[in-house]
Amino acid sequence: MSASSAPPVPQALPRRIARLAAMAAAARRRILGLMSGTSLDGLDLALCDVTGHGRATRVQVLAHDTRPYDAAQRARLRALASQEQVALAELTLAHAWLAELHAQAVLEALARWGVDVAGVDCIASHGQTVYHAPRGPHGLRATLQIGDGDRLARRTGLPVVSDFRQKELAAGGEGAPLAPYADALLFGDTAIPRLLLNLGGIANFTWLSAGRGTARVRYGDTGPANTLLDRVVRERLPRHAEGYDRDGALAARGRTHAGLLAALKAHAYFRQPCPKSTGPETFGADYLRAAQAAAGADHVSPADLLATLVRLTAETVADTLRAELPVTPGAEVLASGGGTHNRTLLAALRETLEPVLPAARWRDLAEFGVPGDAKEAVLFAVLANETLAGEGFDVPLGGDPRAVGAGAGVSFGKLSFPD
Ligand SMILES: Nc1ncnc2c1ncn2[C@@H]1O[C@H](COP(=O)(O)OP(=O)(O)OP(=O)(O)O)[C@@H](O)[C@H]1O
Ligand SMILES: [Mg+2]
Repeated sequence: MSASSAPPVPQALPRRIARLAAMAAAARRRILGLMSGTSLDGLDLALCDVTGHGRATRVQVLAHDTRPYDAAQRARLRALASQEQVALAELTLAHAWLAELHAQAVLEALARWGVDVAGVDCIASHGQTVYHAPRGPHGLRATLQIGDGDRLARRTGLPVVSDFRQKELAAGGEGAPLAPYADALLFGDTAIPRLLLNLGGIANFTWLSAGRGTARVRYGDTGPANTLLDRVVRERLPRHAEGYDRDGALAARGRTHAGLLAALKAHAYFRQPCPKSTGPETFGADYLRAAQAAAGADHVSPADLLATLVRLTAETVADTLRAELPVTPGAEVLASGGGTHNRTLLAALRETLEPVLPAARWRDLAEFGVPGDAKEAVLFAVLANETLAGEGFDVPLGGDPRAVGAGAGVSFGKLSFPD
C-alpha cells in the first residue's frame, strides 16, 4: 500500500501513541540524556531542553551530573565489559540490574535538581556497551548495550529511547561513533572549520568543514584514549586512590619509550581508513602486553608507560586527521570527555595537531552551552529527539563514499513505554 492510500490518522489516538504524538508535535522537548561510557567511571546525566529537529535543532543544557559507580559496581561491569566469554546468567541479570541502578540515579538527580519527573518528556539512554564487534566474522556487524530500556521506563515512569547503535549497524555502519550525527546538527553551521574531539575511553573525532554543504563531515574512532591509561593505573598502581592519572600528573613525570610507542602504533587499526570504530576489546590488556613483548619493554615503569600511552593517543589522533583532512590553518578545536582533564595529554595533542591544524583555536565547549563532561549525554538526547520528532538524519555526510554515514536517512533508538 502506498503512503497516499494509507488510511487517515484517527482523531482519537490510543493513549500511548497520543503521548508520543504530543511529544513529537511540541515546540520543545525536555529530554534527559544518559551515557555510561567504556571507562566505566559512572553514568553521565544531562537534562536538555531541545527545540526543533534536524538542522534546526537547538539544545539548552539545564543541568548535568555524573553519578560515579562505586568499586563493587565498577567491578561487576568490568567483569562483563569487552570480555570474549562471560557467564550468560550474569549478563542477563546485569541487564536488569544496571537499569535499576540507572533509574535510581535518574530519580535522585531529578530530586537534586528540583525537577519533577512529570516535567521531563523522555529519557535517552545509551546503556553500557558490553561488547562492540563492528567487523565480526562473515561480515556480521554487532554491538550490545545493557541496561534494559523497558525497566528504566517502568521504574521512572518516563518513555525511554535506548539501543541507539543497532540500526546504524543494520544499515551497514560501524554503530560508533554516533556523535557525528548530533555534532553535525549542533555544531555544523560554521564559518570556521571545526574539529570535535572526544577523549573518553576511546578517542573519536568529528570534522566539520566550513559551510552547510555536503561531503564535508569526516569522523571515526582514532584509537585508545583513557582506556589504557586507566588500565595501567589500576594494574600497576593498585593503591593509587583515584584509579586514574589525575590531571596526567604521573604521565608528566614519565618518559616516552620509543620502541614501545612504535610497537603500539604498529597495530593495523591505525591504518584503516575512516569511518571506523573500536573499543577496549581491541585495545586492552593483550594489545599492551604484546606490544611490550615485541619491544622488549616488559619492565617499563608505570610513569614511563603512561607517558608512552599519552603519546600514543596524541600521535594516533594526529595521524588519523592527517590521513583524513587537508591541512587546515585556523580551525576550531572543541575537546570533550574525561581526557580533557589530563593536562599531559592535552599538551601532547596541541603539539601533534599543529602540523595538520596549524594555529588552531581551542575553544571551550561550554561557550556553546554544552559542558564538555556532559557532551556525550547531550548527544544522545539529540539522537532521541530526532527519533521522536525528526524525519531521519539529514546529516551532510554525503558525497565522498568514505564520508557517508550509514545511518543517513534513518533515526536511531528503540522506544519503551512505562506502561
Ligand atoms: N581530572 C582528570 N585527570 C585525568 N583524567 C581524567 C580526569 N577526570 C577524568 N579523567 C579520565 O576520564 C575518564 C572518563 O572519561 P569519559 O567519561 O569521558 O569516558 P567514557 O566513560 O569512556 O565515555 P565515552 O565512552 O562516552 O567516551 C576516566 O576514566 C579518566 O581516565
Ligand atoms: Mg564516563
